[in-house]
Amino acid sequence: DWTPASFAQETIERLKAEIGDAHVIMALSGGVDSTVAATLISKAIGDRLHGIFVDNGLLRKDEFQQVLDIYAQLGLNVKGVDAKDKFYSGLKDLTDPEAKRKVIGKTFIDIFQEEAQHIKEASFLGQGTIYPDVIESTSVNGPSVTIKSHHNVGGLPKEMNLKLVEPLRYLFKDEVRRVGVELGIPHDLLFRHPFPGPGLAIRILGDITPEKVALLQDADYYYTKALKDFDLYEKVWQAGTILLPIKSVGVMGDERTYESTVALRAVTSVDGMTADWAHLPYEFLSHVSNEIINNVKGINRVVYDISSKPPATIEWE
Ligand code: XMP
Repeated sequence: DWTPASFAQETIERLKAEIGDAHVIMALSGGVDSTVAATLISKAIGDRLHGIFVDNGLLRKDEFQQVLDIYAQLGLNVKGVDAKDKFYSGLKDLTDPEAKRKVIGKTFIDIFQEEAQHIKEASFLGQGTIYPDVIESTSVNGPSVTIKSHHNVGGLPKEMNLKLVEPLRYLFKDEVRRVGVELGIPHDLLFRHPFPGPGLAIRILGDITPEKVALLQDADYYYTKALKDFDLYEKVWQAGTILLPIKSVGVMGDERTYESTVALRAVTSVDGMTADWAHLPYEFLSHVSNEIINNVKGINRVVYDISSKPPATIEWE
């Protein structure tokens, strides 16, 4: 019978045999899949796993440090790489969503390859691929190891010539989470909403600046906190704030304001392919609107997205 405990135990044994004395490098994203995969590999080979976690400047508020702390707590050998400036300069003045994705994907691969140069002993590349990714890349790209372009970690640089280790290749998401619980990975990380690889860059309509990122991180912080406080976070499949490229007039005391608008998005879904907008309670929406407008300087209007997918997508870009 499949149990998380037996899966973990057998996988660790199998990884020991497969990897032997070799070293593994792996890009970590702070997400469920890469964290569970890395923890299994680490239990098999210890510090011969070399994790790389890149701060692309497009993560949620305080996320980089929080995730590094969790990795440390799990005993993972991970290097945090602050590459914010590289991403911001690559993104400068870009407004087209696909152009942003391309730059982010390419910058990520450049940084990963540069870091990998320092780990010459590595002959394996660890990946948190799960079964739905396998199906998706098979149907989209033919039967190969190519990761969907959507995937958090971007394409695999072929010239790196590494053998793949994918301990979660035959698991579904709920099974990955159960294995994660078994391995002692914190609940908050395991039950996080999906978050796109390009991060907040595709939730800022128009060009990206560090100031806009900071503004959106703050709005997103209050939204996420309110969802948790109202016990709604795990009832929606995904939620996020979107910074709109418009300003509107408001009033604060005796002053006229002319500031930004954020849209709130929350959806229910099974796999992200289709989604319904979440019917969040009015009291919640009222609370979160006040929280954002009162606490985030630069935002004077909050709207709620009531579009389902299709035809709207979950992300606005
Ligand atoms: P859409 O917006 O297509 O999103 O309805 C479906 C799911 O995919 C995520 N998403 C992405 N994930 N890179 C990613 O890693 C991307 O470029 C990307 N675009 C969308 C989105 O957050 C949702 O979970």
